[in-house]
Amino acid sequence: MKSDGAPVTAALRWQVFPDRGALAAHAAELILASAREAIAAHGQFRLVLAGGRTPLAVYARLASAHAEWPHWHWYFGDERCLPAGDAGRNDSAIRHAWLDHIAVPPANIHAIPAELGAQAAARQYAALLAGLGEFDLVLLGLGEDGHTASLFPGRPLVAGADVLAVHAAPKPPSERVTMSAARLSRARQVLFLVTGADKRAAVTAWRAGADIPARAIGGNVQVLLDAEAAAEEPSITGSR
Ligand code: 6PG
Repeated sequence: MKSDGAPVTAALRWQVFPDRGALAAHAAELILASAREAIAAHGQFRLVLAGGRTPLAVYARLASAHAEWPHWHWYFGDERCLPAGDAGRNDSAIRHAWLDHIAVPPANIHAIPAELGAQAAARQYAALLAGLGEFDLVLLGLGEDGHTASLFPGRPLVAGADVLAVHAAPKPPSERVTMSAARLSRARQVLFLVTGADKRAAVTAWRAGADIPARAIGGNVQVLLDAEAAAEEPSITGSR
């Protein structure tokens, strides 16, 4: 742990794909492989889901995949404080793209009760995560300002907390719940999914060492980008 409470990044690998489709195909394969490994190792696959639009293409591919779904457990990196079932929630979008299309034991989907309001939902979700140990795979997106999950620039990292209530968020809706940087970093693997020209500035800032929330995610981190998002970073090797 760094002095500011940010986790240490053990490995940070960048990989560029020609387009969103190629990235989504690779990410889906990576997730399925990580699941097979985890289930073989400890009988379960604990996956943290990213919100926003970018991962939806990956989730849609997983909707037609074959896997040992009863051994999967789905957690959410963050949620928007909207009524249960609201189309604007991350869990609603993910159910629509993926989980509604596969045979999932309902108890294996660990939604954030964001309908309760940020404070109460954060408390409840922290209690759910207590004693859980590390995740197998954490999926994250990247915002134009360098935010990830609902960890926004200029906000304290709050060392020691697993789940945070977020108020006055710069991205609507303003009330949100998010796992902390430290909790998101407690994972065998972290995978960022980044596509589109609107993410170029955040990618450049990240690589330049700017103090953006995405950089506070530690551990074994892999960043998958499409050529659009990486266009201003020709030094990123490993283009595919
Ligand atoms: C949210 C997300 C957020 C998202 C980024 C990128 O609830 O909005 O958790 O962190 O991942 O804002 O969003 P896009 O993928 O839609 O660009």
